[in-house]
Amino acid sequence: MKFFVDTAEIDAIAELNDLGMVDGVTTNPSLIKKSGRDIIEVTKEICALVDGPVSAEVTATDADEMIAEGRKLVEIAQNIAVKVPLTWDGLKACKALSDDGHMVNVTLCFSANQALLAAKAGATFISPFIGRLDDINIDGMDLIADIRTIYDNYGFDTQILAASIRTVNHVTQSALLGADVMTAPPGVIKSMVNHPLTDKGLDTFLADIKAAGIKIL
Ligand code: G3P
Repeated sequence: MKFFVDTAEIDAIAELNDLGMVDGVTTNPSLIKKSGRDIIEVTKEICALVDGPVSAEVTATDADEMIAEGRKLVEIAQNIAVKVPLTWDGLKACKALSDDGHMVNVTLCFSANQALLAAKAGATFISPFIGRLDDINIDGMDLIADIRTIYDNYGFDTQILAASIRTVNHVTQSALLGADVMTAPPGVIKSMVNHPLTDKGLDTFLADIKAAGIKIL
C-alpha cells in the first residue's frame, strides 16, 4: 500500500519522507488555507521534496476553467496530479487532462457509481472520503470494498486512494480491503506505531537492563 500524506505542512512532510513513509502528498483548498501559504509556492516546495505524486486541487467549478487551472498546476513540476471534484464538469476536466497525459485525482467521491464514472473518464486516482461517510453514519469502508470489486471486475487501473482517513483503524481496514493508496494526516501515520504492549514490554526490558547493568557501548 502506498502512503500519501494529507497535508501542506512542509516540516511534517519532510519528517515522514526522511523515514521513507511518503509515496506522495495530497493537498486541498482547506489544507492550503491551514498552511497560510500561497498555493503555487507551497506546492512547488512539496514537489521538490517528494518524488511521488503531489495532488493540487483546482479552484474552478467550470470544466474549461478547471482544465486551464490544471494546465497551470502541471507546470509546477512533473509529479503534479491535478485534483478535480467529482462533478460532471470535473469529469470533463479529468478526461481532457488525462488525455493530455497528466495524472488526475478525482476527489470528493462518496459512491461506487461516482467511482465508476471517474475510472471511465481516465482518472489516475479516485479519492473516496471515508471519514466524511462515517460522519453521517454510513460505513465508509463499504465504499472502498465496493469500488475495489467493481474496478477488479472490469480491470480498471484507476488507483483507489482512501481519503478522509481519520483513525489508524481506517488505515488497517483500507489495506485489508485492497485500497492501492491511503492518504492520512501526519498525526494518524505517526500514531500507527503506538501499542500499549510495546510500551509495557520496553519498560520491562529497561528495568532489566538497569538491574543487570547491561551495557553495549
Ligand atoms: O484527503 C481528503 C481529506 O483532506 C479530507 O479529510 O478529515 O477533512 O474529511 P477530512
